[in-house]
Parts: sequence; C-alpha cells; structure tokens
Amino acid sequence: MQTFSTPESLGPYIQSLRNQGNKLGLVPTMGALHQGHLELIRKSVEMNDHTVCSIYVNPVQFNDKQDLINYPRDIDSDIEKLSEHGCDAVFCPADDIMYPHQPVLTIDFGRLEQVMEGRHRPGHFGGVALVVSKLFNMVKPDRAYFGEKDWQQLIIIQQLVNDLSYQLEIVSVPIKREPDGLAMSSRNQRLTSDHRAVAGELFSALSQVKNAIEQHTDLQSARAIGINYLKQHPAVQLEYLEIVQAFTLDAPAADLGTEPLSVCLAAMLGKVRLIDNVQVFID
Ligand code: PAJ
Repeated sequence: MQTFSTPESLGPYIQSLRNQGNKLGLVPTMGALHQGHLELIRKSVEMNDHTVCSIYVNPVQFNDKQDLINYPRDIDSDIEKLSEHGCDAVFCPADDIMYPHQPVLTIDFGRLEQVMEGRHRPGHFGGVALVVSKLFNMVKPDRAYFGEKDWQQLIIIQQLVNDLSYQLEIVSVPIKREPDGLAMSSRNQRLTSDHRAVAGELFSALSQVKNAIEQHTDLQSARAIGINYLKQHPAVQLEYLEIVQAFTLDAPAADLGTEPLSVCLAAMLGKVRLIDNVQVFID
C-alpha cells in the first residue's frame, strides 16, 4: 500500500491509474479506524480496481475545540488495518497541506442542515462539505463510500454531488454495530466503562421507536417511547431524538404513505457525544 501526504504526490499516481482505465474508489475517514470504516473499505475494494482511503481529522468541521483535541488518532494501526483489507493507497495530509490558506468559502445546505446535527453543530456540515469537495477534486474517484451511521451527512453529501455535478457515484454502507447494538464509532474508545455499559441503550431506544412506528403507533407517541426509555438511564443525556423523512430530512407528512422514515438521535455519555439512527420502511 502506498502512502501520500500531498496532493502533488498523489496527483500523478491518480492520473496514471486513470490513464490505464482503472475504476477508483475513495473512502474518506478521520482515522482511528474500526470495523465500521473497514466495511466501507471492503465494499470499495470489491467494486473498484483501486481504493484510496483518506485519513484527515478535519478541523473546520469541529464546532467544539475540545472534541477536536480529544479526537482519537492512531495512524500506524490505521495503516496496518488498511493494508490488511486490500486498500491500495492512503492519503493523510497535514493541516497546512489541506488548508494552505484560511478558507473563506462557506457552504450552506439550507433546510437540510437546519435539523438534528446541523442545528446542534452550527457550521459542521459546511466544514464536512468543504473537505469532502477537496478530496473529490484531489482523488477524482468514480465512487465514494459513506456510512449510514452518519445519515444526515450521507444525505448532504449526495446533495453536494447533485448540486455541484461531481461525476461520481455515492455508495452508502449500512451501520456496523457491536454485539449490544452500539454503532461502532471512533469516539466509543473514549467512553468510560460505566458509560460503555449503557451505550447499547441508544440502539434499544431507536429499535423501540422503529417497532412502534411499524405497528402504526402515531409518530408523536412513538418518539415519546424512545425519549422516555432513555430517561430511565440518567447516564445518557439525550440531545435530540427526531423522526424525519429519510431522504429529505423534512418532518413526516400527516399522511405517512410509504415514504421511508429515519429515526435519528444524539446523546452525551459523560464527555462523549454519540449519534445513531435506524431506517423505517412502512408498508
Ligand atoms: P469518520 O467519522 O471517520 O467516518 C468515516 C466514514 O465511516 C463515514 O462515512 C461514516 O459514516 C462511516 N462510518 C463510521 N462508523 C461507521 C459504522 N459503525 N458503520 C458504517 N459506517 C461507519 O464521517 C467522517 O469521518 C467525516 O465527516 C468525513 C466524511 C471523513 C469528512 O471529514
């Protein structure tokens, strides 16, 4: 596996692969890789001739400076995992390479970022879109892989691709979970053992909301079931639990129809902020 740290060194490598007609997959990450990330790598290796993984903890998407400082970093172990999984190249630029000048461009996704993560983390998605756009321009992939773990991010990146006419396909990958249902996340390793012991309750709450909706409970009551369930676990400080239309992120229509829904939440467990979601298909 080859390692690149500048777009100048990555560029000729990408160009020669493209000249040979190879299909290129990109997996953007912030490192501290776990099995969830590796599912994305697996999928890309399966679908493309070459896979590039980027590892970059993007400061402009962190609205909480302490979260940026505490974000886990383990580049040596990441590189080992990537090469074991058949990744062909890793791109890990330093901050002054990714942002040689202070960026002035702001990207606003309107109503898509006025709910959930966007509402609670102002500027977050603009920062994500900026770095993902840079990566698309540097790697020029045919396909890029994003996890359903960050559902709102996935919808926003698809919108970015549509609005800016990037000639690439976004491939979404289902959430990889621990045996107790906790969605895998780089932040999980920062949980205390007490908080880790209750972290699986987030998925239990989401599953209860999903079951209630599937049994045609009205959405307000279904949402209350999840919120009240988590109130029994004071170690879990719920930030939000929302039911939205899965692809527009709008509030569900009064007449539900067959539009898929997404149940999304964010919660603090001590100092660690976790997010999760489930999709609900109503027949
Ligand atoms: P990061 O949190 O490292 O996640 C990288 C990718 O892995 C994202 O697409 C995320 O949804 C996916 N992922 C994380 N945990 C997963 C799990 N348990 N199952 C399936 N997929 C999972 O998301 C980011 O980085 C950044 O915002 C980034 C897109 C790289 C831009 O900086």
